[in-house]
Amino acid sequence: MKAKEGVVNVLNKVLTADLTAINQYFVHAKMCENWGYERLQHKVRERSIDEMKDADELIGHILYLEGVPNVQRMNTVQVGETVPEQLKLDLKAEQEMLALLNEGIVLCTKVLDFTTRHMFEDMAKDVDVHIDWIETQMETIKQVGLENYLAEQIKKES
Ligand SMILES: [Fe+2]
Ligand SMILES: [Fe+2]
Repeated sequence: MKAKEGVVNVLNKVLTADLTAINQYFVHAKMCENWGYERLQHKVRERSIDEMKDADELIGHILYLEGVPNVQRMNTVQVGETVPEQLKLDLKAEQEMLALLNEGIVLCTKVLDFTTRHMFEDMAKDVDVHIDWIETQMETIKQVGLENYLAEQIKKES
């Protein structure tokens, strides 16, 4: 199926954001693992895998629309040196992703591509879940303090 004007372009922009997020979250997960924050590490890695599923879906859909998936392009991976910095940078990545998805939803509505629009809407829901999780962590840190929060992230020997 041939894509409507501009659709492949915006799909590729979202793909670039996802490929960047996969790497950023993966590095953050590895850093958490290295610091011994076992519990947190799992959650961050899960987010990286969620982005991988998005990339998988996007590449498939671009090919279906007879477009060329741009897998070479990546934005700057922003690595935080502390857990709060990581959360802040990941939140920024999610917000940028949401802006792109909204751009895609507006375009798809204009060119009457409802399949792609539906895909963007689903991805926007996932962004909400990720943003909610990150904001909860930030709020918990504010309430209990960073040290207490991090102590909870260390795997307890049983
Ligand atoms: Fe995503
Ligand atoms: Fe996300």
